[in-house]
Amino acid sequence: MGRVYNFSAGPAVLPEDVLRECADEMLDYRGCGMSVMEMSHRSAMYQQIIDDAEADLRDLMGIPDNYEVLFLQGGASQQFTAVPMNICGLAVAHGKADYILTGMWAKKAYQEAARFIDAQVVASSADETFSYIPDCTGLAIRDDADYVYICENNTIYGTVYHELPNTKGKLLVSDVSSMFLSQPHDVEKYGVIYGGVQKNVGPAGLVISVIRKDLIPEGPVDGCPTMLNWRTQADAGSMYNTPNCWAIYVCGKVFKWLKGKGGLVEMQKLNAAKAQILYDFLDESELFKGTVRKQDRSLMNVPFVTGDAELDAEFVHESKAAGLENLKGHRSVGGMRASIYNAMPVEGVETLVAFMRDFEAKH
Ligand SMILES: Cc1ncc(COP(=O)(O)O)c(C=O)c1O
Repeated sequence: MGRVYNFSAGPAVLPEDVLRECADEMLDYRGCGMSVMEMSHRSAMYQQIIDDAEADLRDLMGIPDNYEVLFLQGGASQQFTAVPMNICGLAVAHGKADYILTGMWAKKAYQEAARFIDAQVVASSADETFSYIPDCTGLAIRDDADYVYICENNTIYGTVYHELPNTKGKLLVSDVSSMFLSQPHDVEKYGVIYGGVQKNVGPAGLVISVIRKDLIPEGPVDGCPTMLNWRTQADAGSMYNTPNCWAIYVCGKVFKWLKGKGGLVEMQKLNAAKAQILYDFLDESELFKGTVRKQDRSLMNVPFVTGDAELDAEFVHESKAAGLENLKGHRSVGGMRASIYNAMPVEGVETLVAFMRDFEAKH
């Protein structure tokens, strides 16, 4: 069986070594006679799996002790609700937050927050189809805003913040779903940094939230369901209820794989080199065009177009036949998008560029 080069935005390519290890352990995890899928989450063996996963993540990201790591269900989308409910539920909070709109996920997070708190947009790149990151040096952040919210890498539009916004001392909350563990993050610059793992880290069904401990409510919050209150899972080691045992196990393996590759600094170098191959080609091509302002280009999600919808469709069709899968752009924007996460080998990007070169010569 041959594997394709999978450019899906998520769920997405995972390291082959990790998949093989999971396959090897599928029927009998380390001599216990059962699969991790069949194991009680209350067993000592599973406790070791989740403890190791947390320890390796802390190590990889350099997460300080005053931050909690929560392994949660409900996807990144559920954090859109949990963030305002928890932070604005604190005794010191004002019930206000300022959002920067750089794409559909930031907009969804803002719209959700606006249902519960006084949420305001302080910058947006909607005027140019989210093809750039707005200037965030002099934002009109309210003095009594409880936090400033960003989506740091915009999966659909292919932009990334190369510099964090000036939040004027306010807490920064960041959705890093599509760049999670693709590069180092200075965790102390964030109040909350979270991501759905199904893009760069593991299988779908798990979101990891790294939360400064003083932002976790001390007890129940009026109007906040038990399962959305970060305190519930913080007190229970992410096991108030049955967690996504399998996804945590696979993520744990990916953390070890990343450590084996030299950690996040090395990953960033590899990712930059991979992205450069594709961006260099887009810059020289007469047929294909990148859609993002150059200084805001993502290393993870690379959207591009030919300018002709029929030709785009032909490209997607032919590339699939050549073993290059999932290059169709998001349904809301069209064109193409290559997601080149950690596990995409450099050969995958080289093969894509060779295919694009060929396609251009033919058309
Ligand atoms: C940046 C970003 N945030 C949030 C989401 C939503 O994640 P989930 O499907 O885990 O709720 C996605 C994509 O699915 C995303 O790309």
